[in-house]
Amino acid sequence: MPEAYRKTLIRQISQHAHSEVVGMLPEGNWITRAPSLRRKVALLAKIQDEAGHGLYLYSAAETLGISREELYNELLSGKAKYSSIFNYPTLTWADMGAVGWLVDGAAIMNQVALCKCSYGPYARAMVRVCKEESFHQRQGFELLLTLSKGTPEQHAMAQDAINRWWWPSMMMFGPNDSDSPHSAQSMRWKIKRYSNDTLRQKFVDMIAEQIKVLNMTLPDPDLRWNEERGHYDFGTIDWTEFNEVLKGNGPCNRERLAARRKAWEEGAWVREAAMAHAAKRQQSF
Ligand SMILES: [Fe+2]
Ligand SMILES: [Fe+2]
Repeated sequence: MPEAYRKTLIRQISQHAHSEVVGMLPEGNWITRAPSLRRKVALLAKIQDEAGHGLYLYSAAETLGISREELYNELLSGKAKYSSIFNYPTLTWADMGAVGWLVDGAAIMNQVALCKCSYGPYARAMVRVCKEESFHQRQGFELLLTLSKGTPEQHAMAQDAINRWWWPSMMMFGPNDSDSPHSAQSMRWKIKRYSNDTLRQKFVDMIAEQIKVLNMTLPDPDLRWNEERGHYDFGTIDWTEFNEVLKGNGPCNRERLAARRKAWEEGAWVREAAMAHAAKRQQSF
């Protein structure tokens, strides 16, 4: 295996794993405030799935010769990145719908493509992840649909959540192809099967149709069907905002890392107990 290929995969898979785990935080914020038992069960199941995704992905990264400990240290020290989207706050219950529908929706677009990537352990993990992501997206959409058909206040709350999550979701596909220098190499290695702009367009085309069913709008005055291209046209993304969040200046960057560090420190006794238990069991065999 070429060293550069191995390094690229470690970076990509670990970033992905970190995103799954940090991604649990904005939604975890609403578990205790879910409006019904049914909603709470669905949200809990969804967030637990994300923990599972993190585990498959850390395991996939470990097959490339890096330890779980090293991967975790890179996250906690701030050296490793995770998806910028999780540095935005979840302000209302409707955000649970917008996150499921838009954020998990964008994640699916990326991950379906990764099911065919050239590195087997990553590709195979993605197959199961994608099945779970479709449930995440559906529960988000259904939540928004319920709010849309509710009181005018509930409808407005759902629209506000969509307005806030739309552009950050669009940024999840990464920079435009012309500004994405590593993309070409990853395409040659078949880690990446479609370009950022191709996947973003697919996402816009899907969401622009689904939003009609929700009876809501997307916060983009330039969004319109282009008969000639057979795709929706859309407005320009504010890359300054993207770069600021990436640099650590998003609304919740510090809070998210602090929460992960706290969980790591407070979980020390669990790791010690598990190790002691494993050692004891080995002795008794
Ligand atoms: Fe996930
Ligand atoms: Fe998900």
